[in-house]
Amino acid sequence: MKNRVCDILNIQYPVIQGPMAWITSSDLVAAVSNAGGLGVLGTSADFTEIVKGIPENVEEMRKTIRRTKTLTDKPFGINVFPAAGDPYGFSKAMIELAKEEGVKILVVAGGVSPDEIRQWKKDGFIVIMREDNPTVRGAQLAEEAGADIIVATGCDEGGCMPHLSTGTTAITALLADAVKIPVLAAGGIVNAKLAKAAQIVGAEGVFVGTRFTMSKECRAADATKQDILKTHPDDYIVFTQSGGHCKWRTTPHKHGKEGIEANKRGDLNPPCGSFYYGMLKGDMDAGVNTISNTASLIKSIDSCEDIVKELAAPFIQNNTTDFFELVKSRYSERFYAPTPIEQEKLDKIIEAGRIAPTARNCQPQHFYIIRSQDGLAKLKTVTKYHYNAPAMILVCYDIQKVWKFDMDRNYPNYNSGEQDGSIAATSMMFAAEALGVHTVWVRDFDSKTAAETFGLPDNMMPVMLLGLGYPNERAKPSAWHFQKNPVEDFVTEL
Ligand SMILES: Cc1cc2nc3c(=O)[nH]c(=O)nc-3n(C[C@H](O)[C@H](O)[C@H](O)COP(=O)(O)O)c2cc1C
Repeated sequence: MKNRVCDILNIQYPVIQGPMAWITSSDLVAAVSNAGGLGVLGTSADFTEIVKGIPENVEEMRKTIRRTKTLTDKPFGINVFPAAGDPYGFSKAMIELAKEEGVKILVVAGGVSPDEIRQWKKDGFIVIMREDNPTVRGAQLAEEAGADIIVATGCDEGGCMPHLSTGTTAITALLADAVKIPVLAAGGIVNAKLAKAAQIVGAEGVFVGTRFTMSKECRAADATKQDILKTHPDDYIVFTQSGGHCKWRTTPHKHGKEGIEANKRGDLNPPCGSFYYGMLKGDMDAGVNTISNTASLIKSIDSCEDIVKELAAPFIQNNTTDFFELVKSRYSERFYAPTPIEQEKLDKIIEAGRIAPTARNCQPQHFYIIRSQDGLAKLKTVTKYHYNAPAMILVCYDIQKVWKFDMDRNYPNYNSGEQDGSIAATSMMFAAEALGVHTVWVRDFDSKTAAETFGLPDNMMPVMLLGLGYPNERAKPSAWHFQKNPVEDFVTEL
């Protein structure tokens, strides 16, 4: 997979967990980074009580950073703010801390400050710029100053959302069109469909908060998560705060209801309460329980690993519907991640093999799916070329069904099983690739051993093994992939 966000951040999947102040923690950040995304420490991550004073905050955050490093050896980021949004120098101190502790990725939230971006770049940071009220001019300014990645935040988001009423799709499309550096879409991305929508309009990755609030590893109180699960989307409340600079969307409790009333009276700065007692501790009347407008599409609390994989799916697929591009980009995968293939995708792959053409439409093909622990262990005794793929399909043909042919003197007793099996396997191979599942074709095994090991009926003849799975960080084509002979060697006009 070629993805610029992954290349810049040195991560496997372009899924970035947006910082969420108190409810972020070293556990959450490490879980996202270990899953191949990028975890980002928010302010007060891991803090167990409200800490006053900048030096005290710095020392607490130092502990958080060090703990995160014990939990992951993968990159992670830290949330900071430009000086204009940092009157007491809190963020400045955090940036110094990031330098001392070797945290290389700054996730900057606020207005675009070109001089500061230039300085951070000089200091060796990777800069992800998230303008709180995103604009085309702001994104271009950040790009000129050297920012590495832009976040396009739509008013669909959870947290302190833009007062501009531009949705995630529109702002992503606008910013992706305006800058050359990659753009991440933020706001309302809670499942693969919404991630796909962002990808279609130009996002090269996603920046996600609410979906990670609803993860097993997020330390928000269970009461907070249950409140989100049970609230009907029509009941969400949006009110304006910070003198009109931002808005909050919340489940309907004290601060949301009072915020709306205050706005009606012309008060654009009603309190949003305590994040610590609210979302972290679970007292829903103590502060806003802030969410994206799509939060009700989240039906369960899942692991960060599952969430990262789901949201990454649109970006790891061969981003092409062009068959010729697909044929070119496909290579034999020999490095697999242990991630299982989704049943939905496996069904589609099998379907491609089922409907493949066969000689005289005899349909002799049969597919044995090997993905159980026991099956994969047996497979390892059948061939050493299993590459630890999480699934392999043993493609066979049925000798009783196959078309038989005795008119070719070069092939007495010919049957079309090898061809039929290979056509079905090729169809499945490209179906898998089109779904972002990598493949390898394996014929280095003994048919009899395979048949005996898996207890196949006597009429089943093995043709090949099709390895399936997602690539791991070592994945790349072998040298053979590029060594193709010229077309003249293959074609003769008769
Ligand atoms: C509960 C919550 C707290 C947040 N706190 C912060 C924060 O402290 N700093 C920040 O830059 N963004 C914060 N955000 C915004 C997220 O980083 C991210 O931009 C946003 O969640 C993306 O939209 P989504 O929630 O629809 O996925 C917060 C979001 C949520 C949901």
